[in-house]
Parts: sequence; structure tokens; C-alpha cells
Amino acid sequence: MTLDVVPVELGSRSYEVRIGPGLIDAAGAQILPLLRRRKVAVVTDETVARLHLDRLLAALAAEGIEASALTLPAGESTKGWAEFARTTEWLLEQKIERRDMVVAFGGGVIGDLVGFAAAVLRRGVRFVQIPTTLLSQVDSSVGGKTGINTAQGKNLVGAFHQPTLVLADIDVLGSLPGRDFLAGYGEVVKYGLLGDATFFDWLESNASAMAGDAGLRQYAVRRSVEMKAGIVSRDETEEGERALLNLGHTFCHALEKATGYSDRLLHGEGVAIGCALAFELSQRLGLCAQEAPSRVRAHLRAMGCKVDLKDIPGDLPDAETLLALMGQDKKVIDGQLRFILARGIGEAFVASDVPGDVVKNLLAEALAG
Ligand code: GLY
Repeated sequence: MTLDVVPVELGSRSYEVRIGPGLIDAAGAQILPLLRRRKVAVVTDETVARLHLDRLLAALAAEGIEASALTLPAGESTKGWAEFARTTEWLLEQKIERRDMVVAFGGGVIGDLVGFAAAVLRRGVRFVQIPTTLLSQVDSSVGGKTGINTAQGKNLVGAFHQPTLVLADIDVLGSLPGRDFLAGYGEVVKYGLLGDATFFDWLESNASAMAGDAGLRQYAVRRSVEMKAGIVSRDETEEGERALLNLGHTFCHALEKATGYSDRLLHGEGVAIGCALAFELSQRLGLCAQEAPSRVRAHLRAMGCKVDLKDIPGDLPDAETLLALMGQDKKVIDGQLRFILARGIGEAFVASDVPGDVVKNLLAEALAG
């Protein structure tokens, strides 16, 4: 299988996303040409360290690259001030200088936290993303959004800081538990739904075989990254088009908040449910035909994704409360709820004038259903 290379065009900060098998074992050779001295600092989590860290360190050592590694606890609670402070201080202790390279080796939590640490360390050092989950390969490792969670909400403190290179090793997805893989799939399907109907058709025909077929996985990751790279190149700081990447996310963020960011609902699961609700809302507002939400739901269901509110274990708050939680989303502008809606599959757009009562009725019916 060959390596796919997707460029993210951002002038002097352009970089490549390399996608293929065996990239962890090749990481030393991939990273070496970017280094000004043979020294990197790797930050990972306990799960990824157990499965893959020895191989990464061996690959770096094979090229004569000196590497120290910090292993953080796995899980969303790592993405806060405490581990952020620990990481930045550890990087300083490692004497990481502005010309050195930091390596973020893990899923979205590690990528966001380490990217933010790299953004502020000595006012900005370069970093490489080696994403190890489907979600981080297709979304969070690309595009330079970094940050941490605070008591006030998720990702409210952060910076845009683009990586210097992204290495997406398709082989690591084979070791993911099914639930994590499906959660990442919520973000994959999002790309078809927001802007590429042909990709959604392809997913309908091929995605069920993806978990066991590296070639299909590589194509799905590549197409997702191509779409994200194009959008980020045109709108790095989310003045316009980049907001389309938030399809399903206004619903998702409210549901994540309602479930306490717990194991009851993984982010990508919330995205899948949110996409189904966004298409349902679009249909109710007369923007798209009933066929569109029906196809979205049928495909997510066939994949084994969470689709309905009843798929979330435990009780949820009422529609009024969920609507209020949506109002706290950081994408709210001047108090107006902003939704990504669709005129059909692959035809999403930003709407800032959605009537709250239509959303509330939709939620009330979804809660009853
Ligand atoms: N995950 C959405 C974005 O990168 O803009």
C-alpha cells in the first residue's frame, strides 16, 4: 500500500499530512529532515505508551534522534490546566528550545494539549502530530486548533498553532476498541454530509468493511483529510467556511455537557447523533427532502453508531434545558444560535437565524422517541 500525502496549504506554515501503514516505525526517517538538531520530546498517554511507545522510540533512535518521553494519564480529564502545566514544565526541563521539535503521540486529548503547550512554550515551538485514533487522524490533528478544557467548558482556552507534519499510521486503527473506531466514524461521515455526496455514497457501500480493511480505511482517512485540508487552507481561523466542520456539533456539545463529558457519550458519538438531528432540523425547516435525514439515519444505524437520543444510556434533561445548553456553545455569536444545516447530502451551510421553538420541538420529540 502506498503513502498518501495531503498538503495543507498555508503559505510559510504549510505542511503535509502523510497517511499510510507503518508510519510509526518510519517516524524517525519522516521527522529527521525537519530537525535542526537530533532531539525531540514525545508526549503520549498511558494507553498509547503501552501499545506503541517502544516502537516510536526505536524508530527515532534508529535515525540517531535523542528522545525523551512523558506519559500522561489517558482520558479527557487530562486535557486541563494541571496536565498542561506539568507538560510545559516537563518540556522546559527537557531543555526543549525554539529550534527543537515536540511530538504529540496519541488521540485528540494529547494532540490538543501538546499542541497548545507547543504554541506557548518559548512563544512557540514546532510540533509533529502522530494521531493514533480515527477521530484524531481525520479531524483534530489537522488544522491547528489546540487547547484545553476549563471549568467553564471545553476548548475555551487555546490557540491556533499548526503542526509541522502529521503522520497518520493506518495500522494503529486496527488496535482500537470498536466503540472508539465508531466514534471516530462520526467525524468521517460528517465530511460526506457537509460537502461531498459522492464520498457519502462511497461510505454507504464500503464503510462496513472498513474496520477490517486497511485499504478502505486509508481511503476514508485520506478523503476526510483532503476535505479538512481544503477548508483549513481557505479559512484557517474560522471566519466562514471552517464552521461547516461543526456540522452536528451544536447538538453534540449540549449532549456532552448534559452527560457530564462522561463515558455515557463519546465526542464522535455525539457528532453522529448531532448530524442526524441537524438533517432532521433541515428537513423540518423545509430546506431538504425527507430522503436526506432518512439516509443519514439508515447509514449510521447500519454502521452500529449511536443515532437517537435513546441510544445514550441514562436520563437526559428536558428539551428546554438542552436548548439552554446549546446557547452556551462557544460558537454562539451575539446570542444567536448558529447551526450548520443542509440543503441535501453534501450541501451544508451556516444558518444563524434558526427559530428556537423548532429546535425545542425537535428535541422534545427526539427525547420522547
Ligand atoms: N474540529 C473542527 C475544526 O477543526 O475546525
